[in-house]
Amino acid sequence: MNQEKKIAVYPGSFDPVTLGHMDIIKRSAVLFDTVIVAVLSNSAKTALFSSSDRVNMIQELVRDYPNVIVESFEGLLVDYARSKNARIIIRGLRAVSDFEYELQIAQTNRVENPQLDTLFLTTSLNYSYISSTIVREFASYGGDISPFVPEEIIPLIEAKYQH
Ligand code: PNS
Repeated sequence: MNQEKKIAVYPGSFDPVTLGHMDIIKRSAVLFDTVIVAVLSNSAKTALFSSSDRVNMIQELVRDYPNVIVESFEGLLVDYARSKNARIIIRGLRAVSDFEYELQIAQTNRVENPQLDTLFLTTSLNYSYISSTIVREFASYGGDISPFVPEEIIPLIEAKYQH
């Protein structure tokens, strides 16, 4: 029997992490020996939170999940996954509108690294409309973001928009 540890990478911007992301992380933690939540550190992209802030936030939220690791990564996802001996990339699918883009990335990544498969988890229905972009938009106008993000990070998001 193959005793190799099943390592999966769940990559994303997580700016900020949402309840939809947390749902995918928790479900993935049941499926794999190790789940690496990989936070994209992209200096060219203007982010609300620095990658280290995003990593710290998610680390705090997954502290009860011993097989979940949170790191930031730079460069190509395929290279990062290879460096971690991961064979699976996890992505959440909210709606059909996500599918075309996700399929293109998954297929490109598989050409780049044929060892790598992308596994799509359908977002739970109650979170299927949530995106980090919507969270930032609501927060910027002082809207209630409690239905969208873990309560622990609400003050951190709101602080970003207080002048
Ligand atoms: O949460 P997001 O913004 O939808 O995540 C996108 C992410 C981080 C998965 C994607 O941008 C990515 O893998 N970036 C790393 C660079 C890379 O490998 N690009 C090739 C595939 S687009």
